Amino acid sequence: MVRQAAAAAHASSLAAELQHSRGQLVTAREEERRRLRRDLHDGLGPSLGAVVLRIDTARNLAGAGRAEDADRVLRQARDDVAAALADVRRLVHDLRPPALDDLGLAAAVRQQAERLLAPGTVVTVDAGPGADDLPAAVEVAAYRIASEALTNVARHARATTCRIELARDRDGSLVVTVTDDGAGIAPDAPAGVGLVSLRERAAELGGRCSVTCPPDGGTVVRAVLPVDGGGSGERTGA
Ligand SMILES: Nc1ncnc2c1ncn2[C@@H]1O[C@H](COP(=O)(O)OP(=O)(O)O)[C@@H](O)[C@H]1O
Ligand SMILES: [Mg+2]
Repeated sequence: MVRQAAAAAHASSLAAELQHSRGQLVTAREEERRRLRRDLHDGLGPSLGAVVLRIDTARNLAGAGRAEDADRVLRQARDDVAAALADVRRLVHDLRPPALDDLGLAAAVRQQAERLLAPGTVVTVDAGPGADDLPAAVEVAAYRIASEALTNVARHARATTCRIELARDRDGSLVVTVTDDGAGIAPDAPAGVGLVSLRERAAELGGRCSVTCPPDGGTVVRAVLPVDGGGSGERTGA
């Protein structure tokens, strides 16, 4: 009786946890949408509106024979468009890092490592077969998880080497491992947003992420990201 009651209580607390983490994912997505909407509406919209006005002004000036003034206004319009273009690039980068398309996952992760880690840190990136043939969502999650882990290595580990592995599991899942030989996580280290978001990004895809400190030192971040469609590494569209 007692054991059954305990099992039931455990099951219901697991269900509550699951419900809670689903709720968090929905909230995170809604917040992202709101931010995108705000960026588009308050940033890009008015910028392009201003360009339209400047072009009208320039046409009027040109029509009145004031070529130099028209040219000045057109130059301003040109600068406005260039700024709007930079905004679009930033928005697009937030949605999907362009390095993934330009370089592929392994090289994009290597670039992040070189960008984030101190020049003295020796970086190795090992990509197994099938690590470059992934659904877009898995690729983005892997990139962001690796980036977050690398940010922590740079900030906290004081490591001399850092190894990143991208491998396909037997069931087709992508396994992302970031290992450093640094200080390890102090038992009293304050839990931060970074470690939580590693888990959330993995959970979002039905995967998991563990952060461990082996007895011989350093820190290992290991994320397992399921790939729908299994071992073939078939692409489900970008
Ligand atoms: N690779 C690492 N090496 C050493 N300590 C780490 C590492 N990763 C995380 N930590 C410790 O865990 C803490 C929590 O990390 P995180 O959640 O990313 O928050 P933040 O980086 O903002 O402090 C860090 O403050 C740090 O003390
Ligand atoms: Mg961090």
